[in-house]
Amino acid sequence: MKKLAAGNWKMNGTTAALEEMRVLLAAHPAPACEMLLCPPATLIAQAAYHTKGKALHIGGQDCHTKASGAHTGDISAAMLKDAGASHVILGHSERRADHGETNALVKAKAEAALAADLIAIVCLGETEAQRDAGETLALCGNQLHGSIPAGATAANVVIAYEPVWAIGTGRTPTLEQIAEVHAFLRAELAKALGEDGHGVRILYGGSVKPSNAAEIFAVQDVDGALVGGASLKAADFGAIVAALSAA
Ligand code: PGA
Repeated sequence: MKKLAAGNWKMNGTTAALEEMRVLLAAHPAPACEMLLCPPATLIAQAAYHTKGKALHIGGQDCHTKASGAHTGDISAAMLKDAGASHVILGHSERRADHGETNALVKAKAEAALAADLIAIVCLGETEAQRDAGETLALCGNQLHGSIPAGATAANVVIAYEPVWAIGTGRTPTLEQIAEVHAFLRAELAKALGEDGHGVRILYGGSVKPSNAAEIFAVQDVDGALVGGASLKAADFGAIVAALSAA
């Protein structure tokens, strides 16, 4: 599997922001890694239209468990796929915190994503209090085994390890701490999925920026990044793509 540089625009960006995708592709038309941007749902169809056939995948940031029905305000995986998305981020800590998403719900959403032929990017990670209490690996293991969909393979699932305390804070774990969690997740994936578990990409996320990307990408079992703030500007995300391509 190629490494993956994924950007999560969160609730940022209107039509004018599509220009960042054009600039990114102009600078990185054929990177050695995969590139993915997940804009707000309102921009997915336009983004997918403008990037069709190019080296930039477009994804969603959430989906419903059901394919259709009476769920006002929600979007199904099939709708994301129809709009041109190839991936969907699920179980991001902001959704777990803001919307009370449980592992069981994230798993059901991931299964809906696979049924719609989307690649599910399943997020997990500890809070600062959990890290201080020495619960990081146990918590990440619970989230992994509780959230991973039935039918997961190296091709249809990506895991993103995102310590909650590192998201949007400018703080990152030490390289040793990242290595410890990624090695643990790799072993747990192998237990859950057998041979496929060795191929599932494990992204690191939380305050990845051009200045720290290369050292993070040199860590064993870091197969890419899930990038928030630094994915909003083509120059910053492009520098992260370049670092991953060189890793
Ligand atoms: P950040 O966000 O890069 O702004 O820290 C990462 C994320 O939430 O995916």
